[in-house]
Amino acid sequence: MFKTRLLSQEEVKKLVSMKDVIDAAEKTFRGMGDGTVVNPTKVGLDLGETAEFPPYEGFMNAMPAYIGWLDSAGIKWAGGFLGERKKRGLPYITSLILLIDPKIGNFRAVMDGAYITNMRTGAQTAVALKYLHPGKNLKLGLFGAGMQGHTQTMAIAELFHIDEVHVYDISPEASRKYAEDMKDTVQGKIVIAKTPEEAATSADVVVCVTQSKDKYVKDAWIKPGGILFPMGSYQECEDAYILNADRIIVDHVGQCLHRGALKELSEAGKITEKNIYATIGEIVAGKKKGPGPSSERTLCIPIGTGAMDIAVASIALKKAEEKGIGGSYEFA
Ligand SMILES: NC(=O)c1ccc[n+]([C@@H]2O[C@H](COP(=O)([O-])OP(=O)(O)OC[C@H]3O[C@@H](n4cnc5c(N)ncnc54)[C@H](O)[C@@H]3O)[C@@H](O)[C@H]2O)c1
Repeated sequence: MFKTRLLSQEEVKKLVSMKDVIDAAEKTFRGMGDGTVVNPTKVGLDLGETAEFPPYEGFMNAMPAYIGWLDSAGIKWAGGFLGERKKRGLPYITSLILLIDPKIGNFRAVMDGAYITNMRTGAQTAVALKYLHPGKNLKLGLFGAGMQGHTQTMAIAELFHIDEVHVYDISPEASRKYAEDMKDTVQGKIVIAKTPEEAATSADVVVCVTQSKDKYVKDAWIKPGGILFPMGSYQECEDAYILNADRIIVDHVGQCLHRGALKELSEAGKITEKNIYATIGEIVAGKKKGPGPSSERTLCIPIGTGAMDIAVASIALKKAEEKGIGGSYEFA
């Protein structure tokens, strides 16, 4: 009775631009702030990411959400794998998104979620910066020149004039490829940093998108007025920066205390909900103040929410329906 639309990665790519994704991310953050977006904490399945069994060096997360401004609901099933997947030369992130009609629960679409994940991860940072970074120009310190490194740059360049990017990757080849790929996107110059310290100290906004488990960004490297975005799955900065930062801002309190940069200190009882100044949603909705005094250092952690994915996927579906793009299947 109900048809489910099927959309491949190539089709999704044609349907949503970075501008669309940034617009959806901003509206969805506002919805999270005003309570019209429902986003339970994601549920993780450890496939050897940290657990000894099974030994696949990966994880999958189940990420459901309801988006009020679109009256749409769905779930993203997404993960990252470093073992066999990496050996085969496949991208780290793997993902599918399922959308339902929230009134009757029929499945409206099944689509690739990897492209949406990559794009919305960049858009989250760009929207957070729109509300946290004073002015239109910035100098970016980027750790990780992989997939997310690319989309972080694309999204920030949509909203800001990037005067300089100082990129550091443990793979010099990845940095070189990034510099080549991004030369027409970055308005200013791209410098391949020789050391991590050079990348961080040359910038006023530092973004970390690596799979590193080393706390490689040092407290002393982030200047007054600086904003650090540690966005990888593990802790990428020293405990001291987390404990000394003037403000901690996150996208989702529950998720951020259980995964990523805050996990260890939260488990040790050194960081609790009380240490979090605001969510990005509260700032976008105008409930909390955005830019802090120029002397303050900010830690901003968009760990990634299903809400962003479901919002972007719903826009992709709407456009696919208008343009007649994608296949269809009757599951029931
Ligand atoms: N917060 C979010 O919403 C969100 C969303 C998607 C992915 N991520 C995370 O972003 C990270 C990167 O994902 P990706 O898809 O870009 O992977 P990727 O494999 O395409 O790129 C990661 C890059 O980081 C580099 N790297 C690893 N350790 C490093 C270190 N210590 N210093 C500098 N560079 C280092 C690698 O050489 C690689 O080039 C992962 O941890 C992933 O889980 C976060």
